[in-house]
Parts: sequence; structure tokens; C-alpha cells
Amino acid sequence: MNILLLGSGGREHALAWKIAQSPDCSQLYIAPGNPGTAELGTNVPIKPTDFEALKSFCLSNQIQMVVVGPEDPLVHGVVDFFEQDAAVKHIPVIGPNKIAAQMEGSKTFAKAFMLRNNVQTPAYREFNQSNTDEAINYVKQHSMPVVLKADGLAAGKGVVISNTPEEAAHELQLMLSGKFGDAGNKVVIEQFLHGIELTVIVLTDGNSYIILPPSKDYKRIGDGDTGLNTGGMGAVSPPPFATDDFMQKVKSKIIEPTLDGLKKENILYKGFLYFGLFNCNNEPYVIEYNARMGDPETQVIMPRIKNNIVELFTAVATGTLNTKTLITDERVCTTVILASHGYPETFEKGFPITGLENTENCMVFQAGTGYGNNGELVTSGGRVMAVSAYGNDLAEALRNCYINAGRIYYDSRYFRRDIGFDVM
Ligand code: GLY
Repeated sequence: MNILLLGSGGREHALAWKIAQSPDCSQLYIAPGNPGTAELGTNVPIKPTDFEALKSFCLSNQIQMVVVGPEDPLVHGVVDFFEQDAAVKHIPVIGPNKIAAQMEGSKTFAKAFMLRNNVQTPAYREFNQSNTDEAINYVKQHSMPVVLKADGLAAGKGVVISNTPEEAAHELQLMLSGKFGDAGNKVVIEQFLHGIELTVIVLTDGNSYIILPPSKDYKRIGDGDTGLNTGGMGAVSPPPFATDDFMQKVKSKIIEPTLDGLKKENILYKGFLYFGLFNCNNEPYVIEYNARMGDPETQVIMPRIKNNIVELFTAVATGTLNTKTLITDERVCTTVILASHGYPETFEKGFPITGLENTENCMVFQAGTGYGNNGELVTSGGRVMAVSAYGNDLAEALRNCYINAGRIYYDSRYFRRDIGFDVM
């Protein structure tokens, strides 16, 4: 079948890599894609939120399935658009509809949902612009650190951890007065948990689900988990502390109450559901839901799935996921993000990238790359690429990542040197 994948990051390159291996995929198109995805299919210059343009493209190119990478088109209703348009409603779009995508699109929706459905999550309160003074008084009395979350999508920047009441009050004031636009009309003030983070993602057809290999990503920019939050600077799968016993708790205390709650509340959720978790004294707590795969988690999860991924997507579309079982590659997979110096703040772009041809024993998933004036590969974003590799254990996988990271060069290259070290 002809498949259209939406998105342009490292996550989408890894999804494209996996989809392109499927015997069920005839033509793969990526909108808009990046130079890495161009090697696996055909990039098409359409924004994932331009639904009319996506519709025309699907009709002209006999697209039989759309796979959505990023959250924006989901939260803006790409699934609903296709379902409600007579010309394209026969094309399954793999992802949740607009209401279901609120699990990511609205932090207040997600927190209230968790409370109603007994999903373990840190304690919180919600405020809006009409009770700013009350919110500021509340946060000043709160134990530190404290977590502040803008309600809506804020390009990955809407979560702030404050260490002092003054800093928290200042940040809250900024959020409620429009720092993130409408996304900050409401805020969540949440208890800070001590523990270790991990990501568990399920693929669901609204009834059945399969749990994808667990992973851990590294969000801070600096070694030793220091500095600013980023989209993610590396990941490992599986994290050694995701033991059978712990994963059983994730299943019974997190995944099942969430999926049962969605059904009880008549929210049909299809696609990937991302559980951002904290392991706190061997108990899982939900920090966030996302309506999509993670980035860079996808760059370690896709390599560990042995199934034909298009067959799994078809089962999501037809409601037959109960007939499928995940087949996992038992090797460890790790990834290291090569970024641009200055990211996640300001950074320069346009530096030629060399050395890709010298890499071996790894998978390079491109993200912030583009073409220079002479068609050469250049940097074009903060996270430039992910170098993923397998190993029989974490040490071997990481060695393969770091050897190959060193083979790729561009001015302003930056990467963390300690991915996975805390869990070895
Ligand atoms: N790596 C975190 C995320 O994708 O949200």
C-alpha cells in the first residue's frame, strides 16, 4: 500500500526506516520529511497541519494509510478531518482523534482524567488567569522544588521546575500573563517527585493494546542531567530498572486504569499513547501523557520491534490488535543525539556535515539537517541527528553509539558524553 508519514524529525526518520522495511509498503511519502527520510521514500513539501493539502495529495497518490508522527496535527484534528470528509474517510489515519489527543494537548484535562480514573500521578492544583493572585500565594507556600506546567502545547517548553518560591512565583506570573500564548491560560502546579524517569508507550486500537519496549530518555542538555530541558539528548532501551515486577505495576496501576478510563468516558483512543513515568521508590507515577511516539525514544524503540510495523498499524485501523503479539529484539538499543552548540537556546545553522559514510554498526536518524547551496548536507536545527546502535548490553550499545558519534563532524557539534551511564 502507499503510505504517507507526517513529520520531519528524528522520530519520523526512525518511523520511516521501520515502515520502509515492511513488505506491505509499496510507496512511502513523508510530509515534509528531511534529507534522511528522502533516502527511504519521497519527501513532499506539505505542512502536517495543512489538512486540505494532505487530502489532495492522498487522493492524487492513492494513499491507503496516513501515519502521524508529531502531536500538532493530532491536537488540531487531522484524524477527525479525514473521518469526516467523504473523499478521504476510507483512508485510516494512525493516531488519536482531537478529543483523545487532549491527553497531551491539555495538561489540566490529563490530570483531572488521572484523578477520576485512579491513575497514580503527583498531587496538583489547577489555576487560571482569573485566580492569578491565589495561584501565586499557593505556589509561594508550596514545598520546593515545584513543577509548573502550561496547560496547552508550548513547543516542549511549557514545563518549568522551580527551586525557590520567588522563582516559582515569577515563572507562574509569566505563564499566566501570556509567555506561552493561549497555552498558558491555565496552569498546573504539581508536586515534584524524586525518582528516575522512564517512558512506556502502548499502541492501541481502542480495545486491545500492546506495550512497546520501555525506554529512558535524557532530557537535560548537560552531562549529569544538568542545565536546560531539551526535547531529549539520548535514550536507552530497555532501562535495567524496568524489571518484570516494575512493568507489571505499570500495567496494572497505569496502563489499564488509563485505557479503562478512556473507554468508560467514551473516548475512542487509537494509535500511540505515551506514558512519561517516574519510578519513585519502585512505584510508577504518570508525569505526562503524549499522543504520539517520543523523540528520541522512537530511535531506540523501532529498532527493537521485530514485527512488520504496517501490519500492526493495519490492526489498529481494523480493531484487530488482539490478534497481534509484539516480537522484541532482545538486544539493547541506545541513541545519542548530536546537537548544535547553544541548543535549546540560540544556535547557528548551515554547517556542512561530514563523516556519515564512515559510520558502521549503527543507524543514523536525521532531524535538523538540510541541504546547502551545492546540495551538501548541512545542519538546520538544534537536534541534528540521532546515532542509534545495538549491543548485547548497555555498555556495548553505547560504545557503538559513541564511536560513530565521533565519526560524524560539523562545526558546533555538541553531544552528551554520559547517556546511559547512570543506569549501568
Ligand atoms: N522525549 C520526550 C518526548 O518525546 O516527549
